[in-house]
Amino acid sequence: MKDTFHLNITTADNLGIGLFKCSIDREGKFIVINSALVRMLGYSCKVELKARNFKDLFAQAQDAEEFFKILAQDQKVNFFETVFKHKEGTTVWIAITASKVVSEDKLDYIEGIIENISAHKEMEEKLALERDIIQGLLDNIPDAIYFKDRNNRITKVNNFYAKGMGLESDKILGKTDFDFFPYDQAKKMFEDDNYVLHTGKPIVGKIERTLLPNGTWNQVITTKIPMYDRKGKIIGTMGLTRDMTAYANLEKDRLTMLKNAFAALGKTMEMRDPYTFSHNHKVANISEQIGKELGWNEDRLLSIKLAAELHDLGKISIPLDILNKPGKLNKAEYRLIQEHVKNSYEIIKDINFPFSLAETVYQHHERLNGSGYPRGLKEDEISIEGRILAASDVLDSMTSYRPYRESLGLEKALEELDKGRGWQFDTKIVDVIFKLVNDNERRPFWLDN
Ligand SMILES: [Fe+2]
Ligand SMILES: [Fe+2]
Repeated sequence: MKDTFHLNITTADNLGIGLFKCSIDREGKFIVINSALVRMLGYSCKVELKARNFKDLFAQAQDAEEFFKILAQDQKVNFFETVFKHKEGTTVWIAITASKVVSEDKLDYIEGIIENISAHKEMEEKLALERDIIQGLLDNIPDAIYFKDRNNRITKVNNFYAKGMGLESDKILGKTDFDFFPYDQAKKMFEDDNYVLHTGKPIVGKIERTLLPNGTWNQVITTKIPMYDRKGKIIGTMGLTRDMTAYANLEKDRLTMLKNAFAALGKTMEMRDPYTFSHNHKVANISEQIGKELGWNEDRLLSIKLAAELHDLGKISIPLDILNKPGKLNKAEYRLIQEHVKNSYEIIKDINFPFSLAETVYQHHERLNGSGYPRGLKEDEISIEGRILAASDVLDSMTSYRPYRESLGLEKALEELDKGRGWQFDTKIVDVIFKLVNDNERRPFWLDN
């Protein structure tokens, strides 16, 4: 019998590809093998390997059976992945491509190639492990995570996202935010995605409110980052959105509690000194209107309003006969009244607010040129909130009736503010006050109806 091969043995050896020819019976007795196969399986020479049968090399008997079954059916087997025994007792991942051949001796044989795919398998397993870890993380993290392509179409979402949407993920993939959120909201998300796609810059910790398909509003915090391919080209975005609703509600409850506590404090003050109580309240209205005119957000408006509601709280410790004294105050009395600023500050300074109320209150009698009290602060040392409070305080004081004098009237108060414009009072704020008065037909715009 002549050993023949349809493949070039030298080439296969150089490429590390194993070649074999064996009998077609279920044992597969080796007839020809190349040295690459000998090396692949850890044998020292062909004779040593030839002493084994092809079938015996399968680590799993059922794989051998499967191989012979396919060969019997199809006359050939394509890239059959299995594990072969290594001489050292370990195993090698290999792939067999073989076919039935008829040799010159008219007998049937199996002829084929064996490739070592261990490195490939190892890589595949490593990737699968990494994929499992990432998938496990994605599916267990209590935040919504989503991947989008360059057209902002959703390509992957985690369990939390799908659950939040109340949809199976296959109903989400390929869609855009416009399919799930109200138009205005989706447009903002679309613009954010495009910003990340086109600038390559992330958007970190953006706080927004979203309306979910089930009709509930959520307070969320979102981070979006660009996704790159291996060449560094941006291929899409990844977003992570955390639901902060419970936290935001807690914060809201805390603020409500604080506001209620201050309302109670105000009531105490009202019983003793109704004038100061109503003055605080009117200054709060004025300050809030000014803040609105300046385009401030809800939080900032609340902070100036609360500061104003509390600004003269410190008068609670000043004897009423001095507070309401008709006629001129002597120096000592005047100094005592001035103490109220420090007192107000002291009362609230240790309360943990999300914004700096105490400092604003502390500044409400300061003037830009340094002529105010208690610290004689100047220009930039006085915050915009402090400047608003100062102007609002004058506006209400001068237009209010006091036991010792009539109201001086709105025009007189405006004249005073106008006179101090730019050197005592902030020009912009005086302008805003004039605008608000003019818009209200030259009448006070801050009185409750
Ligand atoms: Fe005051
Ligand atoms: Fe005041």
